[in-house]
Amino acid sequence: MNFLVSLTGPLELQTPCLVLPVWSEDALPEAAAAFDQKLNGLLSEIVASDGFAAGLGETCVVHASGENASRLILLGLGKRENFSLDRFRKALVKGARAVRSLKKSSFALTIPSVETAALAVLVQSAAEAIELGLMQYNDFKSGEKTTIESATFLLTEGSDVEIAESALSKAAALCKANALARGLVNTPSNLKNPASIAEAAVEVGTETGISVEVWDEVKIQEEKMGALWGVGMGSDCPPRFIMMEYIPEGTENDAPIALVGKGMSFDSGGYSIKSAGGMEEMKDDMAGAAVVIAAMSALKALGVKKRVLGVVASAENMVSGNAQRPGDIVKARNGTSIEVLNTDAEGRLILADALSWTSEQNPSIIVDFATLTGAIGVALGQEGAGLFTNDDTLAQGLEAAGIETGEKLWRFPMWEEYNDYMKGNVSDLKNISNARGAGSISAAVFLRHFVPKTTPWAHLDIAAVSHVRDARLMTEFGATGFGVRLILDYLLA
Ligand code: BES
Ligand code: ZN
Ligand code: ZN
Repeated sequence: MNFLVSLTGPLELQTPCLVLPVWSEDALPEAAAAFDQKLNGLLSEIVASDGFAAGLGETCVVHASGENASRLILLGLGKRENFSLDRFRKALVKGARAVRSLKKSSFALTIPSVETAALAVLVQSAAEAIELGLMQYNDFKSGEKTTIESATFLLTEGSDVEIAESALSKAAALCKANALARGLVNTPSNLKNPASIAEAAVEVGTETGISVEVWDEVKIQEEKMGALWGVGMGSDCPPRFIMMEYIPEGTENDAPIALVGKGMSFDSGGYSIKSAGGMEEMKDDMAGAAVVIAAMSALKALGVKKRVLGVVASAENMVSGNAQRPGDIVKARNGTSIEVLNTDAEGRLILADALSWTSEQNPSIIVDFATLTGAIGVALGQEGAGLFTNDDTLAQGLEAAGIETGEKLWRFPMWEEYNDYMKGNVSDLKNISNARGAGSISAAVFLRHFVPKTTPWAHLDIAAVSHVRDARLMTEFGATGFGVRLILDYLLA
């Protein structure tokens, strides 16, 4: 969508639809008050009646025939004292969807004045909410599709247009990256595999000039990635190991911040096969990889000044005459032997090799993204992702980015007592825990064996938030791209 900013007064702007944000239990904001006067008190009458209380995301369409804006949408922002960027974005998603249901191809929105939030973040949040909240995965739907082509943000007199415009370009870069991640995740597994995921990374490299290297199944075995190979060897689509690097000027001698992603192009569970219901959404099992590739794609456009390494281990978990069996023992790149007692706990296996290789590059920080456990959804539902980390500063930085972007994180413990859960019977580790509880924690504790204790490392379990079936996280249905805006916000801080 095309976003514009304008200093035109709300009464003067020609638009098929003007969205007017309104606080609940508060006087009408300036723009709404101006229309109210023009329409002989109609808007205050609506607000005073019990039909519209300006609750968060509540909308009310008003016909203003004869005005420059022929339709007004009152959009509830809730109580002013409860304002947060996250609540603001939630309201705007509803507002944008209300415009779409009126079948208007463009609209305008007055940006409210908020004492606690700067113009730039308000404009950025509004654009992100509108763009992402309206995004639909409808590539395979026939029939006509309604799209809104442009949105004009009306700023109050005296506002700095340049600041607003640069906020819009920042939002555009973030949304483009989020869309790339969503697209990769939404693609069904008959149309994607480890090679095509690697191809997507190569394309990002070609477009942005960052370096990309891909190892095939032969090289993966030569490089002693026995855990990744074990997971991928049963598929006709062999595994890939992908390394991307962004080195902005002046950072050639810096240790990189490493992003690592789980890239299962499909997870059938293997011989520890999933139930039909459990398998339905397993095209999503490369959402971590999508976050890494998409985040890498936006670094240059956003002017990130840090050196960033992006790493993806990609495989397809299938059953066949060559597939891994429960009880197999594999050796990860760092020499750790692992009993594969459950072939469905494959994410931690491919990450074992990815984290080992990444650690060898001496990064300053490692952040991995993985749709690792169903258990994380039992703990948190779909309201946030699990955060596991050995470093308090990293935790604070990521949590702050989570609050800023609405991609919230909740930190779990990794007490040493959990180490026993993953000790192997006849090998160093086994890939499933013998305890009934703490499924997400024991997976994280397993991963910890592949990162040096001294490297600040965070593992984000995004299994429950990578896709949705009902509208949330600014998504209507399907992939959310959760993690892309979060990590880019962290890298920009
Ligand atoms: N890809 C799944 C995790 C998952 C579950 C992602 C639900 C999205 C939605 C992962 O590979 C898996 O199967 N994990 C198992 C681990 C178990 C066998 C220890 C799980 O969570 O059940
Ligand atoms: Zn699995
Ligand atoms: Zn999986």
